[in-house]
Amino acid sequence: MCPSWWLWALVAVCAADVFRDEAERIMRDTPVIDGHNDLPWQLLKMFNNQLQDKRANLSTLAGTHTNIPKLRAGFVGGQFWSAYTPCDTQNKDAVRRTLEQMDVIHRVCDMYPETFLCVSSSAGIRQAFQQGKVASLIGVEGGHSIDSSLGVLRALYHLGMRYLTLTHSCNTPWADNWLVDSGSDKAQSEGLSLFGQSVVREMNRLGVMIDLAHVSVATMRATLQLSKAPVIFSHSSAYSLCANRRNVPDDVLLLVNQTRSLVMVNFYNDYVSCAREANLSQVADHLDHIRKVAGAGAVGFGGDFDGVTRLPTGLEDVSKYPDLIAELLRRNWTEAEVRGALADNLLRVFEAVEQASNHQQAPEEEPIPLDQLGGSCRTHYGYSEASTLHHQPGALLAALASLLFSLCLL
Ligand SMILES: *[C@@H]1O[C@H](CO)[C@@H](O)[C@H](O)[C@H]1NC(C)=O
Ligand SMILES: *[C@@H]1O[C@H](CO)[C@@H](O)[C@H](O)[C@H]1NC(C)=O
Ligand SMILES: *[C@@H]1O[C@H](CO)[C@@H](O)[C@H](O)[C@H]1NC(C)=O
Ligand SMILES: *[C@@H]1O[C@H](CO)[C@@H](O)[C@H](O)[C@H]1NC(C)=O
Ligand SMILES: [Zn+2]
Repeated sequence: MCPSWWLWALVAVCAADVFRDEAERIMRDTPVIDGHNDLPWQLLKMFNNQLQDKRANLSTLAGTHTNIPKLRAGFVGGQFWSAYTPCDTQNKDAVRRTLEQMDVIHRVCDMYPETFLCVSSSAGIRQAFQQGKVASLIGVEGGHSIDSSLGVLRALYHLGMRYLTLTHSCNTPWADNWLVDSGSDKAQSEGLSLFGQSVVREMNRLGVMIDLAHVSVATMRATLQLSKAPVIFSHSSAYSLCANRRNVPDDVLLLVNQTRSLVMVNFYNDYVSCAREANLSQVADHLDHIRKVAGAGAVGFGGDFDGVTRLPTGLEDVSKYPDLIAELLRRNWTEAEVRGALADNLLRVFEAVEQASNHQQAPEEEPIPLDQLGGSCRTHYGYSEASTLHHQPGALLAALASLLFSLCLL
């Protein structure tokens, strides 16, 4: 007769497989929609965006967390690809680089049409699911990408941007970033400036999701209060499990619940365990925590694959998603909760954002005050002295100088 420990070991092994099989069964009709993947940034760094380079073939691409076989194995059915340009491009070539990253995402869809379908609506995501393709959407990571311009914001919307992270790891002239909370940057807008508020209103009007990953807590609160539609954190985890300012504190999680918003959990070790090492089970702890505080409807995944250097044991690349889902099932998440975290919660938020949009409403037009624009390489067309005099002592001097200059010419 077998000793009973042997039997239990066998049961345990079989049970493990049961959860994994169940995960795959669920993911066959509800694949994961991930909130943030930096493959486009890798394509820039590795190939200067030259997709026809043989080594850039996404079927065989090596050394990245993401390629086509890994996406397939991971049941990834929707991806917000990050159009990211670092903060050192602010006031320089940020807009150009953002356009180039959006372009490379469109070119990936064109080059691999059997795998990717570029879409820009919740209906488009559902259509890609039905065709068994990876719904591909664009998230622009960092408000510096709009160069403090509502016109650029609208142009990026027309090119397919469906979320904008209000800041990356730097303040913009109109919104503060998380480094303000860690003490390494100075508060500048105390959340959102007046212009920042008009950016939020315009995003609501257009139907672009507002992403609060990377912003300061004051910016989170100001935006959650102002936005007419739910918001997302495209790649942030729970602060109470790892006290890193990139993560979302519990009091904000309560606002996430009240606004029916969404936190898509980041897998970066430093945000999961606050250490160099982490594992899949600790990521599941973050998911459990957000479910407990904000509700199962507030949970999603934003792995930050190809944007980070250290990932948890068990979640080394995008192919590992079913293992994480199996762990949630092992922790007694219901099938509906799991489907919510995979895709339904994001679809709910995206649909609410689409419904709150109103293209009949007049666009926001008031430009940022000239004295709030940083950088020295700009022209100031459109900012007449008259319209900015009352904002700005500097403009008064400039006006006087130009008056004197024209008198001299006479
Ligand atoms: C990528 O490589 C695969 C397998 O070698 C090949 O079939 C495919 O045509 C290549 N795709 C492109 C776009 O070059
Ligand atoms: C994950 O890491 C935690 C903390 O180091 C540890 O307690 C736990 O046993 C690990 N879990 C697995 C499944 O390795
Ligand atoms: C917010 O919390 C309530 C009560 O816990 C819960 O019923 C609801 O589903 C939560 N909302 C979301 C979006 O998760
Ligand atoms: C899951 O539910 C089962 C059956 O109700 C229970 O025995 C088990 O302890 C639960 N597991 C967890 C992690 O809550
Ligand atoms: Zn990021």
